[in-house]
Amino acid sequence: MRLVEPSEEYEAEFRVFAEDYVRHGEAERAGKYDLSSLAFGDYLALSRKAALRSSTDGTSYQTYWLMDGAEVMGVVRVRLRLTVEEEMFDGHLGVDVAPRKRRLGYGTALLRLGCEEARRLGVDPVIVTCLRENVASKGAIERAGGRFLEEVVDRETGLPLLRYQLAC
Ligand SMILES: CC(C)(COP(=O)(O)OP(=O)(O)OC[C@H]1O[C@@H](n2cnc3c(N)ncnc32)[C@H](O)[C@@H]1OP(=O)(O)O)[C@@H](O)C(=O)NCCC(=O)NCCS
Repeated sequence: MRLVEPSEEYEAEFRVFAEDYVRHGEAERAGKYDLSSLAFGDYLALSRKAALRSSTDGTSYQTYWLMDGAEVMGVVRVRLRLTVEEEMFDGHLGVDVAPRKRRLGYGTALLRLGCEEARRLGVDPVIVTCLRENVASKGAIERAGGRFLEEVVDRETGLPLLRYQLAC
């Protein structure tokens, strides 16, 4: 299993990943991986622009795809240079696993590999957060060795949010 940077080299594999969201009706996340109206190169360029746009206020993120053999199983976004508020509520890692590939350990792997990547990019400590009600995310964070720090109230939803530190 390995992380790769988004590239045209994996277009066919990434399209299968993206279509899985549409097939499973995960509309909100499918939007993020909507390739229907774009050439693949334009999709990659737009994604890079989105990452750059967020860097105008000092933050930025790097996206990686998780490959297992020749398949894209998931995505991790490593967020860098967070404000105090972002570190409190968003954390450094955001992960998505293809709906048909869940409960197979890929979420745990994304967090472990994403943590290593974050450390390589100078992040220390690596913080991850999840809504308390997101049992899948909570389970993957704990399986990846996350050390529970505290529960806070999410600034956007008002729901309980769990904060962890990842060791890698
Ligand atoms: C959260 C997410 C990344 C987890 O990925 P995953 O590959 O399914 O997770 P793992 O297989 O590594 O699961 C690790 C552990 O978490 C727990 N877990 C995972 N999914 C669960 C679920 N649906 N219900 C209960 N526990 C769950 C289990 O303890 C699991 O270990 P087990 O399968 O051996 O029992 C995935 O569900 C996902 O992409 N969800 C939508 C996006 C999201 O919520 N991202 C997180 C917020 S940024």
